[in-house]
Amino acid sequence: MIKKIAHIAVVVPDLTEANRFWVDALGLEMDRVEEVPEQAVDVAFLPVGESNVELLRPIDEVSGVARYLEKRGPGIHHICFEVDDIAATLARLKSFDIPLINEEPTIDRHGTKIAFVHPKGTGGVLVELYERP
Ligand code: CO
Repeated sequence: MIKKIAHIAVVVPDLTEANRFWVDALGLEMDRVEEVPEQAVDVAFLPVGESNVELLRPIDEVSGVARYLEKRGPGIHHICFEVDDIAATLARLKSFDIPLINEEPTIDRHGTKIAFVHPKGTGGVLVELYERP
């Protein structure tokens, strides 16, 4: 079961510059900034109700997010859904022949299971799924 939109991730080249719109003008609160070394990004968390806008700023030039920024420019990178059973969700997608980037979930340092669905199976949207521990 899909529980909610957990976050919408937006790639930005510069957090301070991005805050001019998201925080100053739009009025969202910046909860915190965390470095996520696995993805070579700094992530700024801007809560919106039960979801977050996540601003992703690459911290190197070769990671997936950095190459995305280089190729496509700033903008929406992925949408993340929180699910109650990621294994069941992945099995269901497989039964529909939807291509997955992660056939098996990866587990982050907080114990959250994460998997990405390939944009070629979703109409061009990179979809992240996660299940909290
Ligand atoms: Co994400």
